Amino acid sequence: MKTLTIIKPDDWHLHLREGLVLKNIIHFTSEFFGRAVVMPNTKTPITSIERARYYKKSIVEALPESSKFEPLMTIYLTDDTDKEELINGFKNNIFFAAKLYPANATTNSSYGVKKIENLYKIFESMQDNGMPLLIHGEVTDSEVDVFDREEVFIDKELSQITKRFPKLKIVLEHITTSYAVDFVQENNIGATITPHHLHINRNAMFFGGLNSDFYCLPVAKRENNRLSLRRAATSGKKCFFLGTDSAPHLRKWKAFCGCAGIFNSPVAIESYLTVFEEEDALDNFEKFASLNGPNFYNISPNLEKLKLVSRPNKVKEFIDVVEDENIVGQIKPFHAGEILRWQVEGIVN
Ligand code: DOR
Ligand code: ZN
Repeated sequence: MKTLTIIKPDDWHLHLREGLVLKNIIHFTSEFFGRAVVMPNTKTPITSIERARYYKKSIVEALPESSKFEPLMTIYLTDDTDKEELINGFKNNIFFAAKLYPANATTNSSYGVKKIENLYKIFESMQDNGMPLLIHGEVTDSEVDVFDREEVFIDKELSQITKRFPKLKIVLEHITTSYAVDFVQENNIGATITPHHLHINRNAMFFGGLNSDFYCLPVAKRENNRLSLRRAATSGKKCFFLGTDSAPHLRKWKAFCGCAGIFNSPVAIESYLTVFEEEDALDNFEKFASLNGPNFYNISPNLEKLKLVSRPNKVKEFIDVVEDENIVGQIKPFHAGEILRWQVEGIVN
């Protein structure tokens, strides 16, 4: 049996939701990750210091007792974002970063930014103050093919932003193309890579009928892109780090409207590990999961360690959402019903 001990990882891109779903899912992340960057696309988005404080409090209250997990809060940029509020929130450690969603790019993004150029003044202050900008990198023009939206965003928007603000700390989130892999390396920015984009290509959505279980945004692309992402993630290069984009949707909603998002937090570490083993790169896993992120953000890696063992690990078909001991909903996890080769043993000191 192979074992691996690494510094406790962080999740640099996570959706925790609110209320009952938050209460039922947070332990999947808080148990084995030190910190997570929490996305602000709640039903009412996190657009102010007040909302971020309130949301953080509800997250901390939902944590298992004596958990040391630290949620890192983000502010949702809109056309009306107030520069003072943004920078004040950053300076006072309320916001860890700001998130840019182009309007209507994904789940709960209708408040997103309509014209990115209008935010350039804000980007300038962020650059001056060292505040990171996290980007959902897709254009939303209906004429642009869904599978081309990341590349077009890089050409039309991101390349302008990096040119004008060369010192702005930018993370291109959940990259899905080899075009993005190249851009990130050539332009001195960071990128998160999800487990699902390392495992599936766009075929997954069309096997056995239209299957929304594998629908997320940005949508998975052709196989050559998946292979390029696997090379990037397992390379150990400092610009690529772990961000699950775990995005739970209740089964009834997923089945009804096919909403975008894959819930991978119950199996994220094991899912990534499978990829690193297949690519013969287990030695680089700690860099991707635990070191490159803190290095990018200029913060210390976690102190605790995590022990991982290679043993068969059957993934549940569904995760129950429970209220007062009654099952009130279910969420399908990534790899549902599969047997993964790795398991998290637990925290070691
Ligand atoms: O697939 C996705 N789901 N992509 C996103 O960017 C948002 C997320 C969600 O919140 O469900
Ligand atoms: Zn996301």
